[in-house]
Amino acid sequence: MKVLERLDELYAIGGGPGANRVGGSAEEDRAHELAAGWMEQAGLAVEVDPAGNLIGRAGDGRVWTGSHLDTVPHGGRFDGALGVVAGIEAVARAGEGAVVAFRDEERGCGGSLALVGRGELPACFVELHIEQGPVLERRGVPLGIVTGITGMARGTRVFEGREGHAGTVPMESRQDALVAAAGYVLRVRDAAAALEGAVATVGRLTVEPGAGNVIPSRVEVSVDARAPDRKRLNRLVAQLGIEPAFRLEPVPMAPAPRAALEQELLARGLPVVELPSGAGHDAAVLAGAGVPTAMLFVRSLNGGISHSPAESTAPGDVELAVDVLSAAFARLLGASD
Ligand code: HGY
Ligand code: MN
Ligand code: MN
Repeated sequence: MKVLERLDELYAIGGGPGANRVGGSAEEDRAHELAAGWMEQAGLAVEVDPAGNLIGRAGDGRVWTGSHLDTVPHGGRFDGALGVVAGIEAVARAGEGAVVAFRDEERGCGGSLALVGRGELPACFVELHIEQGPVLERRGVPLGIVTGITGMARGTRVFEGREGHAGTVPMESRQDALVAAAGYVLRVRDAAAALEGAVATVGRLTVEPGAGNVIPSRVEVSVDARAPDRKRLNRLVAQLGIEPAFRLEPVPMAPAPRAALEQELLARGLPVVELPSGAGHDAAVLAGAGVPTAMLFVRSLNGGISHSPAESTAPGDVELAVDVLSAAFARLLGASD
């Protein structure tokens, strides 16, 4: 299947393990080159916007689909890439609409925020994405419709100490920045665990000076905090004491594009399973800007693991997802005439 072959080509960029096309990298650029070629092969008018987003249009490009081609380090084969490759197929089949590969989604939705910031808002946006969670696998269904996307806030905390010789400074007189940061990391876990529906993650510690025989003088702690509503997100951000450098509000998906997806599931005799997204997406940026937006999830396998080389789904599910996305996309185009 062409979609799976193209996903393999993207996955091979950057060597392994996993997908390595971090935002702003030469590997992300290479992925955009490949996708531009596929858009041209499909007869789409290809353009790159001022933020580097890649857009392929056919006819009246009022209804959009797409996703992102950048990945986390050692990411999965499907995260983002599936939505772009399937989107090219959907626009090619419809002969109308637009497919976009947003830049730099993983580090903070830079491409989609720039696009909505410029006021370039389509009539409607629908994104296909792998679920990145266990729900559809547990329910035994291949596809699901997203009800809403969680809110997220990302920031850092810095802990200052005093550098010193690992061998000569007595324990009772140390100012060890990493010991202070370690206590904070446990408080991040405890605050999120105590708040229903919230999650929080410390994924990166930057320790200075970073030598094994020097007491750390400064540690920067990354914080990724998420909650399903503003009230809980605000509460978590306050408890963690971060000034978010990046924040996306929790956002519901829109009735009309959701209904188009539902119609296509029903038309195929498939169950309609609706679920929230704990992962953030460019779709949240468009929805937050007022674009009627929906997401179709394809089942994750392996317990839903993602942001990992172990991310997986079944080829038959991918084929069905492309078919449902394309049909719903065509239905939305018809409705937008
Ligand atoms: O972090 C996220 O939820 C998304 O993968 N960018
Ligand atoms: Mn993604
Ligand atoms: Mn991701």
